[in-house]
Amino acid sequence: MDLRQCAVLVLFCLVIGIGTDTVSKAEGSLMSMIDFRYWRCVMKREWKCPDSEINFFLYTPERRFKQWIDVRKPNLLDVYGWDPNKKNVLIVHGFNGTYSKNPMTFIRDAYLSRKDYNVFMVDWAPLTRFPCYLSSLSNMKLAAQCTAQLYSYLTAAGALARRITCVGHSLGAHICGMLSNHLTEKQYKIVGESIMPVYRCRILCAK
Ligand SMILES: *[C@@H]1O[C@H](CO)[C@@H](O)[C@H](O)[C@H]1NC(C)=O
Repeated sequence: MDLRQCAVLVLFCLVIGIGTDTVSKAEGSLMSMIDFRYWRCVMKREWKCPDSEINFFLYTPERRFKQWIDVRKPNLLDVYGWDPNKKNVLIVHGFNGTYSKNPMTFIRDAYLSRKDYNVFMVDWAPLTRFPCYLSSLSNMKLAAQCTAQLYSYLTAAGALARRITCVGHSLGAHICGMLSNHLTEKQYKIVGESIMPVYRCRILCAK
């Protein structure tokens, strides 16, 4: 998508957003507490994790199928085949993306084939559907917050911060960046790739 298409998209979402957001004051105060849904879009208003629209799936070299991770249940990682001696990678898809398709599956399989990684796929697809770009931008905050909860869940289970990597594509790269805002111990590594043509690049920053 080039910049002009992107601008048209943003404008489109803006128009849809304003058009739907005509509610009375009383309704408005209620609306501010619940998620704002319009058309295929949702704008999260409640900053509470875990959230049913943000999910995490574990894949390991030995179990190459998805296993849903419930961060409310401590000490369950071993049951899922999580190996504390392996490194961990969190993989976050981007705008209109999904954890279950390319390029995310390609990145997942690359890490799995190394055999020294537990792979966690972050699924926030319901919150970043096309063409809801503005609400996607807004929802990144919650996605980062909930991914930080997964991160804490891993460190509580014994994973070392320097053995956790975040890999993001498109807006997912921003989520990886925002993740560190929620953490006391800085992340060890962020691997990001943006699909915006102006700064198509690959960033590797080790702290
Ligand atoms: C958004 O995702 C859907 C489903 O994967 C795909 O069919 C569609 O082409 C995508 N739209 C854009 C603009 O990328």
